Amino acid sequence: MIEVREVGQRAAGGRRTLREVSLSIGAGELVAIIGGSGAGKTTLLDAIAGVRPPAEGEVSYDGGGSAPAAGSLGYVPQDDIVHLEMPLRRTLRYAAGLRLPAGTSPERAERAVDGVLEALALTGREGQRVGSLSGGERKRASIAVELLTRPRVFFLDEPTSGLDPAAAADLMRLLRGLADAGTTVVLTTHHPPDVLVCDRVAVLSQDGRLAFYGGPREARERFRADRVEDIYLHLAEGDAHDWEGRFGASAPPASGPGIGPLRQWALLTRRSLDLLTRNRLTLAVLIGSPLMVLAMFAVLFRPGAFAPESPSPGATVMILFWIAFGGFFFGLTYGLLQICNELPVLRRERLTGLRVGPYVLAKAAVLLPLLAAVDALMLGVLRALDRLPAMGWGTYGELFVTLLLCSVAALALGLLVSASVTDPAQATMALPMLCFPQVLFVGAILPVPVMAAPGRWLSCAMSNRWAFEGLGHSLGVDGLWATGRSPLGPPLLASYGDTFSRPVAVDWAVLGGFAALFLAGACLVLTRRT
Ligand SMILES: Nc1ncnc2c1ncn2[C@@H]1O[C@H](COP(=O)(O)OP(=O)(O)O)[C@@H](O)[C@H]1O
Ligand SMILES: [Mg+2]
Repeated sequence: MIEVREVGQRAAGGRRTLREVSLSIGAGELVAIIGGSGAGKTTLLDAIAGVRPPAEGEVSYDGGGSAPAAGSLGYVPQDDIVHLEMPLRRTLRYAAGLRLPAGTSPERAERAVDGVLEALALTGREGQRVGSLSGGERKRASIAVELLTRPRVFFLDEPTSGLDPAAAADLMRLLRGLADAGTTVVLTTHHPPDVLVCDRVAVLSQDGRLAFYGGPREARERFRADRVEDIYLHLAEGDAHDWEGRFGASAPPASGPGIGPLRQWALLTRRSLDLLTRNRLTLAVLIGSPLMVLAMFAVLFRPGAFAPESPSPGATVMILFWIAFGGFFFGLTYGLLQICNELPVLRRERLTGLRVGPYVLAKAAVLLPLLAAVDALMLGVLRALDRLPAMGWGTYGELFVTLLLCSVAALALGLLVSASVTDPAQATMALPMLCFPQVLFVGAILPVPVMAAPGRWLSCAMSNRWAFEGLGHSLGVDGLWATGRSPLGPPLLASYGDTFSRPVAVDWAVLGGFAALFLAGACLVLTRRT
């Protein structure tokens, strides 16, 4: 039972989108919210579901708490929010892993998947990519995800939009069946015929007030439902599925606490990897772009740039800088597109008890091995081509750790920005603004000691600076040309001062700190946004 009392909501600019809406929804009722576009249907649904709690008034469940327990609520937003590249059965398997109670055996989870496929008449489509399903099938798939655990309350935003009248009527009968089996169902709709199978209908006027709340027959009398659509409804009745029968007889809903954070992390890591390998073009770009940049480095840098016999300190500094920047750039671009296009999925899964920490760490875990491989390849190839000096494994181990930490800090920064923007286009536009300062303020093009004071302070906030200096320290640039003697007179890199003298462990700590800070920031942003 849901009690909505005097609920009001404001849009971002302060404009009122809902005013003093009060209604009560009984257990096992099917309730439709109708009204014109922009009347506030979604806003009201989100307020009741707890997706966006109301600014005024309150919503209470069963006379008590302001939200149902995670796992007992199902929420299907208007847009398709399942991964489109993934086959249907696999999508449901991951969803089952995340939603079913901890300790559910794989066989039981598989049975639950079979159950919803069957219940939603999707059995023949299980191997198909979700993106290739028809509109109605995709909508049913989106609903199937929520029905894996039988929710006690079920919210759907315009589930029948984009469906033909027969499919819409079919879907409404499915929801009727769910309600008859005990689930409270609240939905928004634009189709008058949908309302006829509901127990109650809430009509919102254009200014966000509740114009009517009551039975559909009274509503129809008051608002004159369209006759033409009624005819469609009757036409569709002939080949309808027996939704009521399916839900009345099926197994009782699963209940109990969901899986813990560690299991969530493991499952999300698997899913991220799965998604990554499914999107061939993205994968090709992820792997291909470092190879191309590496080829450019090989063409650009001359061999023996670290040999004291033929000093070229400018080249040395540039090689160090570009290696660090390469590690930074790949980390950043890998992270930048990870979250922004998945936010609706995450928002939905958060309602079922998914934690943000495991989600962010799963993203990092999938990309880490790829970054490590890219960094190792970069050092290995540059050494093999004599662009880097011959030194022991210990030195190269240090270089690798520095570069990997640089990449990880950048990856974390990318994830933070990805979590903060609303779509991939914004993330792409953020890229140059994230890169520019990491070039200008690193202290390679203009040494830190000769920067203006504000520039010097800013340079401390550039993760790249610490990577650049760490690489220089490990390669002995300090002794080579900065403070050391030179056959030609004063040290050739005197303007760099003590840039390369700091022990590399300090740089590692700073880079690790950046990574932790950005990851925590990403978690914080996601917690707020979902
Ligand atoms: N994030 C938002 N920022 C500003 N205005 C919003 C936002 N979301 C919704 N609105 C406004 O609130 C009103 C109600 O929106 P909504 O509930 O989505 O309408 P409906 O679902 O009935 O079409 C609209 O006028 C819309 O412009
Ligand atoms: Mg809406």
